Amino acid sequence: MVTFQRVAFETDGVLRSPIAIGHDEVQVWGVLLEIADSELPQATSVLSCEEQERAERLISGGHRRRSIAAHAMLRAILSRYCGASPHQLAIRRTPNGKPVLSDYPSIRFNLTHSHGRALIAVARDREVGVDLEQVRREVDVVRLAKRFLSERDLTCIEQGDPAQRHERFLKAWVAREAVFKTDGRGMTFPLHRDYLELTGDGTKGWLVLGDTASDEKRRPVRFLALDLGWIGAVAAEGTDWTVTVCNWSESRINRGT
Ligand SMILES: CC(C)(COP(=O)(O)OP(=O)(O)OC[C@H]1O[C@@H](n2cnc3c(N)ncnc32)[C@H](O)[C@@H]1OP(=O)(O)O)[C@@H](O)C(=O)NCCC(=O)NCCS
Repeated sequence: MVTFQRVAFETDGVLRSPIAIGHDEVQVWGVLLEIADSELPQATSVLSCEEQERAERLISGGHRRRSIAAHAMLRAILSRYCGASPHQLAIRRTPNGKPVLSDYPSIRFNLTHSHGRALIAVARDREVGVDLEQVRREVDVVRLAKRFLSERDLTCIEQGDPAQRHERFLKAWVAREAVFKTDGRGMTFPLHRDYLELTGDGTKGWLVLGDTASDEKRRPVRFLALDLGWIGAVAAEGTDWTVTVCNWSESRINRGT
């Protein structure tokens, strides 16, 4: 189970014990984007000019504050993998906007944030993507599925318990985002060529890609155990990886999801 918690954005992450990560694991952190006014200057000070400018461009004060928190906390976490201070990490964006570490190419990561919460996925030597969405019961998901998703997704969403429709819709959605973010292309429309194949107890699945340009047609996706009302998924290159849920405050790692 992923616990969303505040990450201390101290400036000397390098002094804390390093975090080990195996080639076959994807480590996932749940982050609460809460930050006090008094902490804003310190959090802002670890950001790059680009990150500060992006935050400045946000009109809503709440969004600006959460953007600062997300990137300061992301840096605090990454610094533990890299053995460098948070503000020293050079993070650049690919042409499609995916942030990557310039000086530590074997450490791959991805960030998602939604309504004051974030997930950060970290892997070694394999690209990774993560997505988080809040369940909004007022949304007509069948209408959205008819408009955007595939026939197979729609059938899956419509069948079974109607109370589970939003969860089934969001699983089809976050699976796409996690896979597309792994590839660094962001959400790529149209979405109706692909479909989600759920396996077992619904904690895993395959996103089956109908895009003829894709080399890999079946991409594994892991759904994360989150608080009620949240749906999240992680994807990564290859098939030989498992998810490890990380806990900042307890500074220990729980194996498995
Ligand atoms: C990337 C994208 C899927 C994010 O979707 P979202 O649900 O709104 O947002 P999420 O919270 O899940 O993810 C946002 C984070 O993903 C990361 N991200 C941005 N672009 C990304 C990409 N192409 N691939 C992977 N991750 C990306 C960033 O860390 C971003 O957070 P930040 O802007 O605060 O740094 C969406 O913005 C998209 O499809 N963008 C298109 C990419 C593109 O065409 N860019 C054109 C050149 S800039």
